[in-house]
Amino acid sequence: MNKHNVLVVGGGGREHAIVYALSKSPKVGKLYCIPGNAGIAKLAECHPDIKATDLDKISDFVKSHDDIELTVVAPDDPLAMGLVDRLEQDGKRAFGPHANAAIIEASKVFSKNLMRKYGIPTAQYATFSDYESAAEYLKTCRIPIVIKADGLALGKGVIIANTREEAQNGLREIMLDKAFGAAGSNVVIEEFLTGFEVSVLAFTDGETVLPMASSQDHKRAHDGDTGLNTGGMGTFSPQDKYTFDMAEKAMQTVFLPTVRALKAEGRIFKGVLYFGLMISPDGDVKVLEYNARFGDPEAQVILPRLRNDLYDVMNACIDGDLDTVKLEWDERAAVCVVAASGGYPLKYEKGKKITFGDVDDDVIVFHAGTAICPDCGEAVTSGGRVLGVTALGKDLSEAKRKAYANIKRISFDGMFYRSDICKDH
Ligand code: AMP
Ligand code: GLY
Repeated sequence: MNKHNVLVVGGGGREHAIVYALSKSPKVGKLYCIPGNAGIAKLAECHPDIKATDLDKISDFVKSHDDIELTVVAPDDPLAMGLVDRLEQDGKRAFGPHANAAIIEASKVFSKNLMRKYGIPTAQYATFSDYESAAEYLKTCRIPIVIKADGLALGKGVIIANTREEAQNGLREIMLDKAFGAAGSNVVIEEFLTGFEVSVLAFTDGETVLPMASSQDHKRAHDGDTGLNTGGMGTFSPQDKYTFDMAEKAMQTVFLPTVRALKAEGRIFKGVLYFGLMISPDGDVKVLEYNARFGDPEAQVILPRLRNDLYDVMNACIDGDLDTVKLEWDERAAVCVVAASGGYPLKYEKGKKITFGDVDDDVIVFHAGTAICPDCGEAVTSGGRVLGVTALGKDLSEAKRKAYANIKRISFDGMFYRSDICKDH
């Protein structure tokens, strides 16, 4: 069979899960990754010297590697910066939305206004570009209230304030202290929603929407949903509270309307569209957030359950053939627990040697913030979220037991993880 070489852009746990899934495809030949990490390096040729946001260097790399037939752009920043557009201008094939569609994640003001314009259910909100008016508005809001930085903030730019004082402090941090840099020049202030959360990622070619198996993230750093927001400390799939009826309602009221709204705005979305949903106690579906890519660590529980050839599905998104694809899922449940560096999501140290211990053969240790130590050639920590330990089981409770039994065999100085991922099972 003719094999196809693929480049994956990114270097976290999500990219490890994508590389892992692509490596299972009989159609995929050599894998490259920019920048990659110590785990990805076992499956792909990594280029740690090139940043995922260095569009010029990536464009040059692909031009100088004629054998690369597809580039998968996984992280939010290069998507928002237009890496897919750039590669296409170079005459290359790329998976992921163009910048004008990736804005659905890159600007919360844009996404909220899109939902309002097209009647897509979401929390009531107001947007502000000026601190004084936002502070005045906060005096009149019901508490709790949610304040979101407009731009990309590594999943950390959301403050849920339980008192008026917390709300004012949070607003000051975002808009005046610029805790999230330019991302906080504009803010969305929105109603606090209650219910349960579910993440539904969907492949789309701009017309057809194929939702993947559901999942749930745990965003706070510590047990009991305490501590700061992080990129995600653990996930499980499926989210079994998300019923068939809810999924049908989400398809009709959120998924299809969103893809059609983007198309109507001249922003055709091809790639993975991530719907962060809140399901109210009455079963109403509302959008909390959109992402223009696979979630991290959602990908680490979803992709190991995907039975289709990921390479084929990605090509169908690009070619507009997604209506010919039917997604198939491993019946088993998956749980991923993230091992993080002490201090994350604030300051943490890097360069700690990782001891992997004797992990079960059927458990996948996805690498996130790891690098190969140039002196000793071994894996060391190089980021806040270091590893994601994913286990599959006949149900969520078995998967969870296996994930925890295995993460305990891994250690590095300062390592911590949440002990309550998927706690209801
Ligand atoms: P986001 O990045 O917009 O998904 O927000 C991060 C997390 O904050 C979400 O996963 C929710 O747990 C929480 N959140 C965001 N918006 C709201 C809201 N309107 N009501 C309640 N919780 C929210
Ligand atoms: N885990 C949430 C995200 O990828 O945005």
